[in-house]
Amino acid sequence: MIPENPPVLIPEREVRRRVEEMAREVSADYEGVEDLILVGVLRGCFIFLADLSRLLTIPRRIDFMAFAAYGNDASPSGAVRLIMDMRTNIEGKHVLIVEDIVDTGNTLEYLLQILHARKPVSLKTCALLRKPAQLKKDVRIDYLGFDIPDRWVVGYGLDYADRHRALPYIGVIEAD
Ligand code: PRP
Repeated sequence: MIPENPPVLIPEREVRRRVEEMAREVSADYEGVEDLILVGVLRGCFIFLADLSRLLTIPRRIDFMAFAAYGNDASPSGAVRLIMDMRTNIEGKHVLIVEDIVDTGNTLEYLLQILHARKPVSLKTCALLRKPAQLKKDVRIDYLGFDIPDRWVVGYGLDYADRHRALPYIGVIEAD
C-alpha cells in the first residue's frame, strides 16, 4: 500500500527556497531579453513551471510539449515520441526548456534535437530534479534544482501511477 503522504525527501520550504533561487538566476541571465519562451514538458512540469514562471522578473511566454515513451515498463526501449507540439514559433527566439525531472536524459536529448532544428537564438535547459545514477545521455542542464538519489519520487508535479502530483513536497515511494 502506498500512503497518501509518502515520506519526505525534499521538504516544501526547501523546494520553494531553491525555486526562488533558480528564478533569480534565470531572471539575471536573461536580463534585457524581451521575449523569453518557456517550454514546459507535460505533465510533470506543471507545478514547477507555474511557480518558476511567476517568480521571474523578465518578460516571458509559456508553451508546452508532451512526449510518451515507446514500449512499456517491461521492455523499456528508451526511445520517446512527440505526442503534443507547442504552438509558438521559436525561430530567432530565446528558449528555456522546463522539466520536472531528468532521469535517463532520453526525453531532454530528443527535445533538444527537435528544438535546435527550429533555429532558436538560444536554447537552454532547466530541471528541478536530476537522478545522476540513471543518466544515460550527456545532456547539459543549465539550471538544476537538486541531484537526488535513485528513488521513485513524487509530488510537486511528479506522479506514481498518476497520483501524488499535487503533494507540496518531493516524497519517495518506498519499495515493498
Ligand atoms: C518524466 C519527466 C520527464 C521524463 C524524464 O515524464 O517529466 O519528461 O520522465 O525521463 P527521462 O530523462 O528518462 O527521459 P513521464 O514520462 O513520467 O510523464 P509525466 O511527466 O506525464 O508524468
